Amino acid sequence: MVSAPVENPAPTPDRRAISVLGSTGSIGRSTLDLVRQAPDSFEIAALTAFQNLDLLCEQAAEFRPKLAVIGDETLFEAAKSRLRGQGFTGEIAAGPSGLLEAGVGDAHTVVAAIVGAAGLAPTLAAVEAGKTVALANKECLVCAGDILIERATRSGATLLPTDSEHNAIFQVLYGRKQDVEKLILTASGGPFRNWPVADIAKATPAQAVAHPNWSMGAKISVDSATMMNKGLELIEAAYLFDMTESAVEIVVHPQSIIHSMVQYRDGSVLAQMGAPDMRIPIAYTLAWPDRMATTSPRLDFATLGALTFEAPDLHRFPALRLARNALKTGGTAPPVLNAANEVAVAAFLDGSIAFGAISRVVETCLDNHSGGGVSSLDDALAADADGRRRALAAVAAL
Ligand SMILES: NC(=O)c1ccc[n+]([C@@H]2O[C@H](COP(=O)([O-])OP(=O)(O)OC[C@H]3O[C@@H](n4cnc5c(N)ncnc54)[C@H](OP(=O)(O)O)[C@@H]3O)[C@@H](O)[C@H]2O)c1
Repeated sequence: MVSAPVENPAPTPDRRAISVLGSTGSIGRSTLDLVRQAPDSFEIAALTAFQNLDLLCEQAAEFRPKLAVIGDETLFEAAKSRLRGQGFTGEIAAGPSGLLEAGVGDAHTVVAAIVGAAGLAPTLAAVEAGKTVALANKECLVCAGDILIERATRSGATLLPTDSEHNAIFQVLYGRKQDVEKLILTASGGPFRNWPVADIAKATPAQAVAHPNWSMGAKISVDSATMMNKGLELIEAAYLFDMTESAVEIVVHPQSIIHSMVQYRDGSVLAQMGAPDMRIPIAYTLAWPDRMATTSPRLDFATLGALTFEAPDLHRFPALRLARNALKTGGTAPPVLNAANEVAVAAFLDGSIAFGAISRVVETCLDNHSGGGVSSLDDALAADADGRRRALAAVAAL
């Protein structure tokens, strides 16, 4: 279980070396923005992109990492030519082995911000190397939560949740496990919270990625619109904080000011609040167990207005029910759910299927999958591959 009390934290280096897996994404760019603001506190050990070579080159020129990695191997020659051409003297690597190297290098903190199951192997490598891992990539916990937690326990790695909800819980989780009655994850409800169900089914990619409160990458924005994001976070919370499915409640809070809460057995509820700006939870993980100054917006309670709460609508957002069932089933169900969702979201974004079909594809894959346990990385990867195969077939059959 991840727990917050830090009476005697291990000494940390004065200037922390940070590896950013997925530096060209939304979380990666926010991380680098914080590093830019505190050059005396942080240096960059490694940066990784998948295909966005332009931005990787720009970031390498500014932050001068020891290692720059392009995930797509077909871009390796172009990456070498561009980076050397601009005078970059660090190491250049590509593909899965390059991503692994970025996870295990000499960084103090590895920011795991690759999107999807593609982030699992390098994140697991960082965990096995005993790093402090700032974990944004929720999909890797959904795919292989038990394995990641067990390896972290064995290696002494520190897992710091970056997802705003889990970061909030981490900040307000104190005391003994038996004192915690439940975790309450807040959800904005996404862009379609009040849309008629028939209109949601026909929503376009542009409408789905236009989140009312948060600026994020395309995949997680679509997940927020289906509310699968909250389903993935439910599974993430269960693994991170060692809670049962029934002890994690989801409540819709459209203002995204309270980022989540812990309810204790005496009836107390502790909440963490802040502006909806991912730089706040990222800063907490970069500076932990201290805090660092940020330029993020501050809450002004005099003008904030009402904070409202409502139960999630499972009819409108079936993904929440699918994720709860997958967590209850356990074993290969969560990785199959995740893989099917990744395939369905990609198909929606490229115009192959309608928004309303995303959850149907996931449900079909869960109904048909063969089940089984996940006790190794190979098991998780096999379940992921199975989910992808089934989802591609389901998309083709629509
Ligand atoms: N954005 C948020 O506010 C937020 C909040 C909480 C949690 N998260 C989680 O954080 C993770 C990242 O989200 P994001 O919004 O930052 O995503 P994003 O903007 O889409 O960025 C994804 C990053 O991963 C890289 N990438 C994509 N596919 C890859 C592959 N196959 N191999 C290696 N690298 C790959 C991308 O490289 P290229 O740019 O080169 O394609 C990019 O650097 C997700 O798991 C998400 O659920 C995000």
